[in-house]
Amino acid sequence: MKFISSTRCRLPRVFSLVLLGFGTVFGTLRAQNQPPQDQVHPGQSPQERPLYQDASQPVDKRVEDLLGRMTVEEKISQVHADSKFTTPAIPRLGVPVRWLTDGPQGVREDVGPYNWRSAGHTDDFATYMPSLCALASTWNLDLATAYGNVLGRESRKRGKDIILGPIADIVRTPLCGRVYEYFGEDPFLNARMTVNYIQGVQTNDVAACVKHFAGNNQENGRGIINMDMDERTLREIYLPPFEAAVKEAGVWTVMGAYTKFRGEHCAYSDYLINKILKGEWGFPGLVMSDWSGTYSTREAVLGGLDLEMGTLITGTERERPYEDYYLARQFLEGIRSGEYPVSLLDDKVRRSLRVMFATHVFDTRKPGSLNTPANQATAQRIAEESMVLLKNEGATLPLDASQIKSLAVIGENAVRHHATGLFGAGVKTMHEITPLEGIVQRVGTNMNITYSVGYSQRGGSSMIERAVTAAKQADVAIVIAGLNHSRYLDDEGWDRTNLSLPYGQDELIQQVVKANPRTIVVLIAGPAIEMDPWLAQVPAVLQAWYPGMEGGHALARVLFGDVNPSGKLTCTYPKQLMDSPAHALDTYPGTNGTLFYKEGLLVGYRWFDAKNIEPEFPFGFGLSYTTFEYSNLKLVAGQDTNGPVVTAECDIANTGQRAGAEVAELYIHQDNPSLPRPLKELKGFTKVFLKPGEKEMVSIPLDRRAFAFYDPARKGWVAEAGDFKIQIGASSRDIRLQDTFHLSQTTVEK
Ligand code: BGC
Repeated sequence: MKFISSTRCRLPRVFSLVLLGFGTVFGTLRAQNQPPQDQVHPGQSPQERPLYQDASQPVDKRVEDLLGRMTVEEKISQVHADSKFTTPAIPRLGVPVRWLTDGPQGVREDVGPYNWRSAGHTDDFATYMPSLCALASTWNLDLATAYGNVLGRESRKRGKDIILGPIADIVRTPLCGRVYEYFGEDPFLNARMTVNYIQGVQTNDVAACVKHFAGNNQENGRGIINMDMDERTLREIYLPPFEAAVKEAGVWTVMGAYTKFRGEHCAYSDYLINKILKGEWGFPGLVMSDWSGTYSTREAVLGGLDLEMGTLITGTERERPYEDYYLARQFLEGIRSGEYPVSLLDDKVRRSLRVMFATHVFDTRKPGSLNTPANQATAQRIAEESMVLLKNEGATLPLDASQIKSLAVIGENAVRHHATGLFGAGVKTMHEITPLEGIVQRVGTNMNITYSVGYSQRGGSSMIERAVTAAKQADVAIVIAGLNHSRYLDDEGWDRTNLSLPYGQDELIQQVVKANPRTIVVLIAGPAIEMDPWLAQVPAVLQAWYPGMEGGHALARVLFGDVNPSGKLTCTYPKQLMDSPAHALDTYPGTNGTLFYKEGLLVGYRWFDAKNIEPEFPFGFGLSYTTFEYSNLKLVAGQDTNGPVVTAECDIANTGQRAGAEVAELYIHQDNPSLPRPLKELKGFTKVFLKPGEKEMVSIPLDRRAFAFYDPARKGWVAEAGDFKIQIGASSRDIRLQDTFHLSQTTVEK
């Protein structure tokens, strides 16, 4: 059975704004883009100033003081939206309108307050960053911090209080329409990226929102699907990035997923939200629903939802008037009738206020910056470091501009823009350098460049013929192929239907490489693509992701060797769809509204290792224009509590002719565990930049948790005494060094 996709309304909403009958104060919506003014009460002396306005007081005291001054109606006004992306002001108390914004790869353009159409503003441009799949492929945590910083600075300058990113969901199937917005298939790498991204955002007095908690792993049927998995899988694969977001990054807001988990809607699943997130992890911030992801007052109130956003009238695409939101009038009536204790409402508002105080909404805030050269340079740097060289036979790349007289650039993606037109991930950008523009600007007038579309979403005849002619006449052909953000490709709300390139691109690439054996394929796409139809013939393939507004420049610099590629894959690329676990076990997209994650822990490379399946390209793989040698592994024992249990040290040397960067990946393997474990689990990595001939010692610390598995019987993380193989390699299938570490004591951490 196939599910209908997306609960999201693209249609203009028929809506009449009715002021709440029960007295909620709707503040006038602040002019879009204007940062909120610091709230001061005119004429008040410092002595009369209420405690909550005193920045020197501890946050919890300020929260309690303000909460104590709010009427029940004012409190209710803070737990549901009053426009697409706001909650209302309480002018009497100086509480400003709170602005939320998408999204993970740049501050979204403003939409109309009550519909999804562009607000038509002229000052809502933002830096369009490479997609999150690109960021993760850098394996560079400093860049994740820098990325978050750009988003934080730009949100602030645009007057936003909460930015709806990052996405910490795991890539379970390569078909998922939002793979490009995800950090990949591995929980450890995902968690590291998530933490640094959030820290970068939140240093700017803006709250990050980690989403979609937990298990939005496909778009197909996301609004109705009920997913389930065994407890270990939940704890070891799908929760760690969220857990790290809460415990390490101190994220201030969490968005519940559209999906259901064990029969409860994720945004108010008692188990996920009350027991795990707020209970076990002690999350002090606020939980919001995804847009229209709330379906009942009682369950939402009791299940831990703190803020309801974007609710639609069930069965239609029309949005409810805001006073009809589940956490609006019905909640108030329930409070008044005694159905719900006020303490439940207070808890929700307290969380909301905590976020406001933590982000200094009532105090002096950081000013932010928007569309600056520095922010754009960060976008370019990340794009450059993210590109993954998948194949490079006969040193086809880098191209030597002084030796090439003519170049055929082929493909719609050479000229196509990808920033706008998305759901939550679209960005209105000042410019977007396309691959063709980047290449032309890089080589100047020294080379004869012909462009030929070759394939197009709109179709058309003789495109291939013309591309073949261009390729034949050129020294080198570059096909800029891949996907785009159309429905059933890299798009929210729908999954892909297969792994193939669309629009006849396989045929195009086959013909072009036949005409010119010096053909390079560049892939603009988020997820794995099936390459079998042409991979053996094409000498060089570069995965460029969606590289953001400076992407064309970044790409040209990689192609012509100004930058040595150092990205590595964050997902396994299967040779065919049926090789990947969810499909091999026929557990996608679910049956009769339910989906059990049968593969359990064996997600991504864990499955390919366990079943001994040869992937097209393994997790962690990526070539360079230089070569690296690994040597001298040492395991240095550390203390046993509150620090590394052991640190793995080894030397990495650049043995080639060019400067470059290498990502060293550390996997552990437990010998004879008491519960079955994957053969390999990523538990550390580091990226090192080396000049030709240079050698550096790298160290990767491992704490207790790195050795632990989750034991459902003991409800805790068990690091078992015994032998562990510590493997360091250039990919999950290219282990260069290995040694055994003996953990002497078993511990259980709750
Ligand atoms: C998406 C969220 C996004 C929200 C607001 C939803 O459809 O799933 O990721 O933040 O819309 O645009």
